[in-house]
Amino acid sequence: MKNSRFRYLTRRTVLGGLAILPVAASRSLAGSISQAFVREAPPITAADQVLNVMEFEALARDALPPAHFGYIATGADDDRTVVRNHDAFSHYEIRARRFVDVSHVDAARTVFGASWASPIYLSAVSGQRAFHPDAELGTARAARTRSMQMMLSGVGSTAVEPVSEARGAPVWQQLYPTDDWAVTQGLVRRAEHAGCPAIVLTVDTKAGLNYARNNETLTRAMRVDSRTCTDCHVNNSHDPVHKAPMFAGLDVSRVTSLAPPDITPAYLDRLRKLVSGKLLVKGVVTAEDAELAVAHGVDGVIVSNHGGRNEDTLRATLDCLPEIAAAVGKRVPVLLDGGVRRGTDVFKALALGATAVGIGRPQAWGLAAFGQPGVERVIDLLNRELLQIMRQAGTPTLSSITPGHVIASTWR
Ligand SMILES: Cc1cc2nc3c(=O)[nH]c(=O)nc-3n(C[C@H](O)[C@H](O)[C@H](O)COP(=O)(O)O)c2cc1C
Repeated sequence: MKNSRFRYLTRRTVLGGLAILPVAASRSLAGSISQAFVREAPPITAADQVLNVMEFEALARDALPPAHFGYIATGADDDRTVVRNHDAFSHYEIRARRFVDVSHVDAARTVFGASWASPIYLSAVSGQRAFHPDAELGTARAARTRSMQMMLSGVGSTAVEPVSEARGAPVWQQLYPTDDWAVTQGLVRRAEHAGCPAIVLTVDTKAGLNYARNNETLTRAMRVDSRTCTDCHVNNSHDPVHKAPMFAGLDVSRVTSLAPPDITPAYLDRLRKLVSGKLLVKGVVTAEDAELAVAHGVDGVIVSNHGGRNEDTLRATLDCLPEIAAAVGKRVPVLLDGGVRRGTDVFKALALGATAVGIGRPQAWGLAAFGQPGVERVIDLLNRELLQIMRQAGTPTLSSITPGHVIASTWR
C-alpha cells in the first residue's frame, strides 16, 4: 500500500454516491464559503499543507481502496449516529469573555497523575495496517513526538509491546474481553506486563467474532472493491480473535464473541479484581450506567458510541455528556469521543464536563494520507485550534473553561 496514495482517485466518484460523508454534509453554508477556492487550489502533497482535520477525510478517501475507506467511514444502518455526533457540536455556541488576561495560554492537563500536553488523546482504532503500512507504529510515533496519550485497539494489527516501544511509553490498552474468561485474563496480564497503566473495557460492542453489526456503508464500499485482500487487515484476516497479535499464544478455541453477552455489574466487579491499574469503561451514554460503573469501581468513564459504528439513532455523545458529568461529579474523569473535528469541538466538550477528548477517524485519515506526519498534523491542527479558541474565549487554562462558556444554540 506504500505507494498507493491517490491510486484510488478514480473510484472517488463511485464512493461519492455512498452516504459516507456526513462531515462534509454538515456545516453547510460555512462549508460552501470555505470551499470557494478548493478547485483552483493546487493539490495537497504534504501533511503540512492541510488546513484542517476534515480535509484529511478527502485525502484518505483518495489514498485508500474503497473497502478500507468504507471501514473508516461506516456507521450502522443509515449512519445517523455518525452525523449526529459531529452535528451536535454546532448545536452549541461559545460565549467568549473579553476582560481576561490571556498573555499565557496553556492546554496542559493531568490525567491519572500523568501530565498531558493537551486534553486530546488518540482513541482505539483497529486494524491500522489497512490504512498505511506503518500501521499502529506510525500512529504511536506521532503520539510520541506530540506527547499524546494513545489507546491501542484490542484488535489492532500490531501488538502492545512494539506499539508502546514506538510510543516511548506504555499505551492504554482497549479490551475486547471475549466470552472466555481465561482469554480475558491473558489479555489483561499481557497488557499490564507491557506496562499499560490503563485497561479500557469497551462496553458498546455486542457483536460476534466478525463484527456482525449492520455497517451498510461498509458493505456497499466492499461491493465496489474488487481486490483480493492479501497484504492488509489484521494478519491478512477479517477474523481478529484468531489472528490479531494480542491474541497470539492464547487458546481462543472456546471464544464465540469479542464481547461477553453478560457485561453486568457482577462482570465489572470481576474485571475490577483482575485489573491492577486503572480501569475505564468506553461506550457509556447514560447517567445511570455511568453511576453504576463508578459504583462498581471503575476509574474513568468514556462517553462514546463507538463513533456511531454499532447502533443507529443514538444521541450524539456531546448530548449525553452533561447528564453523565452531573451524575459522576468529580469522582472520576469523564472522557468523550465522537465527531470531534475542531479545536472548538474540544472546547465545547470540556465546557460541558469532559476531562479529555478522544479522536478516532481523524487519526485514521491522517495515517492513510501521509503516515506518521499525517497523524502529527491532525494533532497539531486540533491543538492549535484549541489554543486559539481558549485565547479568544478568555480561558487561559483548561480549568477556566466552564459551562458558562457555551450555550445551546437557538440558531438552526
Ligand atoms: C476504523 C475504526 C476502528 C475502530 N476500532 C475500535 C476498536 O477496536 N475498539 C474500540 O473500542 N473503538 C474503536 N473505534 C471507535 C473509536 O475508538 C472512537 O470511539 C470513535 O471513532 C470516535 O468517533 P470519531 O471517529 O467520530 O472520532 C474505531 C473507530 C474507527 C473509525
